Amino acid sequence: METPLTQHIRQDGAPLYLKEYEQTGGYEALRKAVTMQPKEIMDLVKDSGLRGRGGAGFPTGMKWSFVPMGDKAPHPKYLVANGDEMEPGTFKDRLLIEGKPHQLIEGMIISAYAIEADVAYIFIRGEYTEGSAIVQKALSEAYEAGYLGKNILGSPYSLEMHIHTSVGRYMCGEETGLLNALEGKRATPRAKPPFPQSSGLFGKPTIVNNIETLSCIPHIINNGAEWFKKLSLTGEGGTKIYGASGKVKRPGLWELPLGTTVREILIDRAGGMRDGLKLRGFLPGGASTDFLTEEHLDVNMDFTAVGKVGSRMGTGTIIVMDDKTCPVGFVHNLEYFFAQESCGWCTPCREGLPWVEKTLRSIEEGTGQMEDLDILDFHTKYLGPGNTFCALAPGAMEPLQSALKYYRDDFIKHITEKRCPWRS
Ligand SMILES: Cc1cc2nc3c(=O)[nH]c(=O)nc-3n(C[C@H](O)[C@H](O)[C@H](O)COP(=O)(O)O)c2cc1C
Ligand code: SF4
Repeated sequence: METPLTQHIRQDGAPLYLKEYEQTGGYEALRKAVTMQPKEIMDLVKDSGLRGRGGAGFPTGMKWSFVPMGDKAPHPKYLVANGDEMEPGTFKDRLLIEGKPHQLIEGMIISAYAIEADVAYIFIRGEYTEGSAIVQKALSEAYEAGYLGKNILGSPYSLEMHIHTSVGRYMCGEETGLLNALEGKRATPRAKPPFPQSSGLFGKPTIVNNIETLSCIPHIINNGAEWFKKLSLTGEGGTKIYGASGKVKRPGLWELPLGTTVREILIDRAGGMRDGLKLRGFLPGGASTDFLTEEHLDVNMDFTAVGKVGSRMGTGTIIVMDDKTCPVGFVHNLEYFFAQESCGWCTPCREGLPWVEKTLRSIEEGTGQMEDLDILDFHTKYLGPGNTFCALAPGAMEPLQSALKYYRDDFIKHITEKRCPWRS
């Protein structure tokens, strides 16, 4: 089984700096890329089937193809690597940032070349102080070796790359909120259209891609689109860094073929539930995805298959809920996070999420009413897709609406018994 993204990452996660990265074939893809036409690279990425690993799964090559190209295109153009990673349960990009910083930088240079960008930013979660220091050192090495700066590897292409550390708000990871944050403004989303590809950072064409997405690029250049497609089990292209957290025996991250079943991730890799606990449900791709249950263990973790059973692959990092954990308390905890992280820009989210949080709290504390379930149901629709400026609120509603479906009896029990059945 090939694991191109994590291959050579050390067990202890210590970074591979330039010499070691080059010894493993690092920057060969960049040497090849600068001899290719930008359009050739775009087509290769399109053919590979690569879909963004930041959560929404948008096809990467197609996204790039919306950037204006050629002599008449506005400049400067920008590429931004999204390493905000604030979604609860998601910690996959950190592995790539800290363990293989040059893979990310190489992927970014090639991607920037493909869209003819002049400047690139690595937007990193504020708390990833170690990651930022590691990437900073790798950036200096890349400049010194001629992989960055003027006339990269003797070609006519030049690129500047900088790190920007985030302030620690979930909204800073949303792509247009991120662009505002990079401009030094409050991280509220922007109305679309215009899309960032034509009018992004400082009003100029911009691509925002996830760290894992960008880390795939050198391997696609080195090995081709067909190779990348065949890495996956279900034809969606590539490997995926899956994760598991919660009360499993071995929480962690594993790079596996895209489309690996949930069973293999949770049982074979994560070792199943800890002794004395049973699986009650799981969020397949971070906190903003719908619950699935034991009946979904054989679902292939890819964008299509998880979508078909009513959830999303999201970031591919599974959060497990066991049978000794109260589902109401679990969801309340998540909604508390989302309510705190609402940027306040639009009314449904600003006003609705605190209602959801308060209502769940009262049910959990035993003071809820049956009508509260209708209020919660109403909010899952009112804050759903299309009613808010960005996907934070619809994402926040996903675990709630699925909890109301799968664990409704638990909600009712709280209300009729006027207490949390999980508390003594
Ligand atoms: C509230 C919110 C937070 C997000 N946080 C991140 C993040 O930390 N990292 C990320 O790559 N994408 C995040 N996204 C998704 C981005 O908006 C965007 O879709 C993604 O960076 C695009 O990269 P990709 O095409 O490579 O997946 C977030 C979206 C929302 C709504
Ligand atoms: S949905 Fe929430 S986070 Fe998104 S713009 Fe509206 S208020 Fe801000």
